[in-house]
Amino acid sequence: SQPGCGQYPRGRKINIAHRGASAYAPEHTLAAYRLAIDQGADYVEPDLQLTKDGVLVCLHDTTLERTTNVRTVYPDRARLETVDGQTRRVWPVVDFTLEELKRLDAGSWFGPQFAGEQIPTFQEMIDTVRGRAGIYPEMKSPAKYAALGFDMPRALLDVLRKNQLDRPGADPRTPVIVQSFEAESLRRLRRLGCRLPLVFLIDDEAPGDWISPAGMRRIRRFAEGVSPSKQIVLQTPEVVRWARAAGLSVTLYTFKSNATGAFPDVEAEMRHFLYERDVDAVFTNNPDRFPRSPQPK
Ligand code: G3P
Ligand code: CA
Repeated sequence: SQPGCGQYPRGRKINIAHRGASAYAPEHTLAAYRLAIDQGADYVEPDLQLTKDGVLVCLHDTTLERTTNVRTVYPDRARLETVDGQTRRVWPVVDFTLEELKRLDAGSWFGPQFAGEQIPTFQEMIDTVRGRAGIYPEMKSPAKYAALGFDMPRALLDVLRKNQLDRPGADPRTPVIVQSFEAESLRRLRRLGCRLPLVFLIDDEAPGDWISPAGMRRIRRFAEGVSPSKQIVLQTPEVVRWARAAGLSVTLYTFKSNATGAFPDVEAEMRHFLYERDVDAVFTNNPDRFPRSPQPK
């Protein structure tokens, strides 16, 4: 493998199914994960949240109302949340036990053919994907969970250990890479003895002071890869070179079928970033459109 970019095979571009094949099936359901594998994804991405009883489950949001029927099933369990002067009702994942979450429908919002899909546990996700693709978990809001007394990095490592997936190369058919927007959670994984490749996500709306050659070198102290949003690369194209010079792999998010602007479609957009800007990997809702070569067929 490439020195300093150890988590990806040298020269091979990597197709990561973002929330599963989430353009075609409800994100973070086993249906979306299975479809991603059928469509040729190299890795499947579960975002992780914690239940009231400390179980890792696969969901992007910290609350349930966007992707489940929680309003109907638990109408009296909402909290009021005020953001920018607007108050709304939310149903935090962490207010519910796993048993309670399993009563929710996580598929119907996307289409009636997905009625009955449940929120999967991380264990169920592993059982579905193992042997067929890699697993690319994201710890969501670990600081928020820490403030509630949960140790998300430890919970993640415990599940991976139980499945003997906690070491690089433990299962060559199922490599594992861990990602987070929060540097401290990656450092915590390291302190807990985790030797898996780690990838640090950077949001264009809150890029911190990471987007510089020195920033990339600081990331290399606790991670093997960096994953900026594609907007960051458009604004600061040099970031790819700075990351490589620091020994980091580069993974971009997120590529969707409604690509706009300079690209006719999502495949052309991914091709541009992978082969002209030479990034290693992309998170995409459309793993079936991933370009395996620089030239269109
Ligand atoms: O983890 C990469 C990408 O998924 C980050 O964005 O909000 O979709 O988790 P988000
Ligand atoms: Ca994610």
